[in-house]
Amino acid sequence: LFGLPDQAPHERVLLAADPQTGLKAILAVHSTARGPAFGGCRFWTYDNELAALNDALRLSQGMSLKNALAQLPFGGGKAVIIKPAGHFDRPALFAAFGRAVQSLDGAYITAEDVGTTTADMLGMQAHTQYVSGIPRAGAFGGDPSPKTAYGVFVSIDEGVKRVLGRSSLDGVRVALQGLGAVGWHLAEYLHKAGAKLVVTDVDAAKVQRAQEQFGAVAVATSDILAADVDVLAPCALGAVLNQQSIASLKARLIAGAANNQLATAADGDALHARGITYLPDYLVNAGGIISVAREFRNEGEEQAVMTEVGLIRGRVAELLERVRASGATPAREADAWARSLLVKPAA
Ligand code: NAI
Repeated sequence: LFGLPDQAPHERVLLAADPQTGLKAILAVHSTARGPAFGGCRFWTYDNELAALNDALRLSQGMSLKNALAQLPFGGGKAVIIKPAGHFDRPALFAAFGRAVQSLDGAYITAEDVGTTTADMLGMQAHTQYVSGIPRAGAFGGDPSPKTAYGVFVSIDEGVKRVLGRSSLDGVRVALQGLGAVGWHLAEYLHKAGAKLVVTDVDAAKVQRAQEQFGAVAVATSDILAADVDVLAPCALGAVLNQQSIASLKARLIAGAANNQLATAADGDALHARGITYLPDYLVNAGGIISVAREFRNEGEEQAVMTEVGLIRGRVAELLERVRASGATPAREADAWARSLLVKPAA
């Protein structure tokens, strides 16, 4: 646990249990080199506690890299709550989680992630000041998904120009896996820019809406990764880029919101060997954390946030330049770049 190959060890991991509410949570602080560890809280069913711990450790390290590349004055952390098997009182459970967050005295700041909602964050406010992603009447804040989608959109746009040599997204075919909070907004941006969408989701109603609103072509969930498209945007699950899927990919560019898209580091090399450019997830999907970080610092103003999220475009361009100069894969180059930034930012 204290030194997985290739990984910086975690600074601090808290196991928080509250028998009254059934809370079992892991709060993982990977790095505070840049500032307090900032990252969302996942509420999920796990096969066992070790799997939950592993998820928290992996995700929190990813947040260190994401926050560093996004040049935020925050380190990386993440929390995982193991979903109780039977009946539970959700507000009470999140109140207990809020107290656990508070016990870290600001070393970790939480927000939404898979399985948690703005309502959960709102309820936690009574128990900790270290929570973000909260809607406020008449002010900026709340759901970070649209900002994440915008960051992925500018990344795809930049990648299409630099990698595919196209002048715009007009007529570019994009496969979208997952039409959830991020995927739907991304589909809207892409459609407006003239892209042709191929979509899938386990929720048939979302697929039908995308067909109606965007003229999207629907495919089975099992067919999306191998769809005959220019760009693949994974916006549902992690580890979708693996030994099995990579062999059948037709897209030349991959950029999507899903965290941990590469099953292993070697899969990044395999993509590169096949001439497929993978824009690392934690570079392109930083829009959400940029949003909640600004909200937390009370520097929220819609346009300023969108401008900051838009800076992801320049980072994509810089990564592609770095890759050209070094010959390394984008995944390994981004990793080295992010790790070099795991230091206190200049004031
Ligand atoms: P979501 O839960 O709203 O959407 C996920 C969508 O994927 C749902 O519509 C679901 O039905 C669909 N889906 C699930 N399994 C599928 C499968 N096998 N095939 C096709 N579709 C499937 O989640 P959200 O917020 O849109 O996030 C999507 C991904 O982006 C997640 O991996 C998340 O960790 C990541 N992410 C989200 C951020 C945010 O701001 N919401 C920020 C950074 C990363």
